[in-house]
Amino acid sequence: MCGIVGYIGWQEASPLLLKGLKRLEYRGYDSAGLALLDGSKLVVIKQKGSVSNLEQETLALRATMQGATAGIGHTRWATHGDPSDRNAHPHMNAAGDIAIIHNGIIENYSLLKRELLAEGYLFLSDTDSEVLVHLIDRIWKREPAMDMESATRSALRHVDGAYGLCVISSREPDKIVVARMGSPLVIGIGEGEFFIASDAAPIVEHTKKVVYLADGELAVVRRDGYTVTSIENVRQEKVVTELDFSLEKIEKDGFEHFMLKEIFQQPAVMHDVMRGRVRLDEGRVRLGGIEDYLDQLKQAKRIVICACGTSWHAALIGEYLIEEFARIPVEVDYASEFRYRNPIVGAEDVVIVISQSGETADTLAALRTAKEKGALVMGICNVVGSTIARETLCGMYTHAGPEIGVASTKAFTAQVIMLYMLALALSKGRTISHDEIALLLKELSEIPEKAAQILELDGQIKFIAEQFKDAKNVLYLGRGYNFPVALEGALKLKEISYIHAEGYPAAEMKHGPIALIDEDMPVIFIATRDSTYTKILSNIEEVRSRKGRVIAIASEGDKEIGRLAEHVIYIPQASGPITPLLTVIPLQLLAYHIATLRGCNVDRPRNLAKSVTVE
Ligand code: AGP
Repeated sequence: MCGIVGYIGWQEASPLLLKGLKRLEYRGYDSAGLALLDGSKLVVIKQKGSVSNLEQETLALRATMQGATAGIGHTRWATHGDPSDRNAHPHMNAAGDIAIIHNGIIENYSLLKRELLAEGYLFLSDTDSEVLVHLIDRIWKREPAMDMESATRSALRHVDGAYGLCVISSREPDKIVVARMGSPLVIGIGEGEFFIASDAAPIVEHTKKVVYLADGELAVVRRDGYTVTSIENVRQEKVVTELDFSLEKIEKDGFEHFMLKEIFQQPAVMHDVMRGRVRLDEGRVRLGGIEDYLDQLKQAKRIVICACGTSWHAALIGEYLIEEFARIPVEVDYASEFRYRNPIVGAEDVVIVISQSGETADTLAALRTAKEKGALVMGICNVVGSTIARETLCGMYTHAGPEIGVASTKAFTAQVIMLYMLALALSKGRTISHDEIALLLKELSEIPEKAAQILELDGQIKFIAEQFKDAKNVLYLGRGYNFPVALEGALKLKEISYIHAEGYPAAEMKHGPIALIDEDMPVIFIATRDSTYTKILSNIEEVRSRKGRVIAIASEGDKEIGRLAEHVIYIPQASGPITPLLTVIPLQLLAYHIATLRGCNVDRPRNLAKSVTVE
C-alpha cells in the first residue's frame, strides 16, 4: 500500500517529508516523490526507486526551495501502471499549479480518464490516481472563484473507489487539502505546524496529538489550524487523540510481528484479490490481465506450473483446481528442476509461473526456458512491475499488498484464490455449468468471513503451540486438496521455528514415515469433512495405535474426531476445493506461536531471504 506524508508550518518541508517517507518504507514501495510549495512556486520531484535516491535528487533542489515550508510526499506500491518515474506520485495538472498524492484504487478511473481525454486533457502516467488532479483542474477552470477544498470536494463526487488524498496548489499556497475514503489519514497537531500521514509512524516523533480522519471526511490544514467537514461540507468536530505507542508498534499495526499482522490481514486481502474480478451478479470471473489470451489458455494441450517454496505449494493446489474444473492436464514443477532438465515444452503448452516477489531467480529462469521453447507464459505475482511480471506474456497480480514477513502467508492464500478464479475462467462453458460456477463463486465470496472466524481461534492455537514447542520432529498429513496444505504447514513450521517437519499425503504414511511414529512425534492431520474423510480417520487410528500425538484440523460439527485426537481445531465447513484457504490458517498460527515461544526471529528467520534472487 502507498505511503502519504504532508507538512505545513514554519520549518523547511523537504527534510521532514523525506524522513516521514522513510518511516513509511516498511509498507513496501517501488517509487517515491515530493511536491514542495514556496509561495507561488510549486515544484515536484519524483522517481522510481528508494526514498534515499529521492533524497539525493532533492538535495540539488533544496538550494532553491529552502523557503518551502509546505509540501506533500508519497511512496508508491504500484497497482495500476508499472513502477516508473512517470507513474510515481505526485501528479500535476498541465498548468503545473496543482499537485496531488493518492493512496487507494479509483474503480471508475477508466471512464473518468476517457471523459477527460475527450476534453483534451493529456495524461502523463498510466495510473488511476492522475485522473484526480485533472478533475480538480477541470472544476477550477469552470469556477475559478471556487476555493481548493470546494474544487476537491466537487471532484471527489465523481469518484468511486478508495482514496487517501492530499492536494496542494500554488493558487492557494497556505493550505493542504486532505480527504479520506477507505485509505487512512492522520493529522498531527504541532506548535504552528501540522503533519499529515497515512499512519502515525512519521508523526509520532514530532507530536503525540493526532486527529484521525474518518471515511467521507475532508480537512483543510493551514499553519494556524485545521477544519474538518464531510464530503457534503457538513462541519465535523474531531477528537484529538494522544498517541501512546511506539514507532515499532505502528508499523506492525499493533501486532508483535509483521508475520502475525499479515496472517490477520488475510480476510481483507481475500476481498482485495477478488475485488472487481468475482462478478457474483453475472456468475462469472473477469481476469483483466489474461482476458486477451483466455481462448489460447483454454486451448492448452497441457499447463505446466513452475514455482518455488510456498508458491510451489499453491501451484499444487492449482493443479487440482484446474484439472477438476477445466479438465486441462496440469503438471507442477519446481522451477529449479524445470530450468535444468530440458523439459519437453512447446507452443501447445501454457506455462504459468507463480511468485510473490516476482524476482525469484529459479522461477525467472524457468520462465525464460519456457519462452525459449515456445510456450505461452503467464504469471501470477504480487509485486507489480517485478521482473517475472514484466517478462511474462500475460498475467495477474494478487494485490495482497507488501508481504514483509519472510514466511509467506497472505500471499499464499491470495495465490490460491487467483488459481481458483483462473480454473473457473478456464472452465467457462465447457466442463461445468454456468449455475455451478455461480455457486462456487458464491462460496468463494464467503471465505473471508470464514477466515476471520478461524483467526478468533488464535488463543486455542497458542495453547496447543505451548504443548508442542519442544518437539524435535513433526509430521503433517493431508489428502487431496489438503495434501499441499500439509506441505505448506510443514514449511511454515520448519522455516521459522527450526523444528524439523515433513508434509505427506496421508496415505503415504504407511509407505515409510509410519516408522517414525512414537510418543514423541506430534502428527498434524488436516481432517476436514470431504471425500477422503473416512480414510483420514483410519490414518489417525494408525498413528494413535503407535502412540503418536494427534492434532487435527476438522470441520465444525464433526462428532467423530474428538475421540481420536488430543487437540482439535474446528473450522467452518467448506467444499473440498475451497478448504485450503481455511485449513492453512491454523497451521500458519501454530507455526507462528511455536516459533515465538522458542524465541525465534519470526520475521527474519536465520539463513532465509524474503526473495531468493540467487540460484
Ligand atoms: C515461503 O514462506 C518462503 N519464504 C519461500 O519458500 C518462498 O515461498 C519462495 O522463496 C518463493 O518465493 P516467491 O513466491 O517470491 O517466488
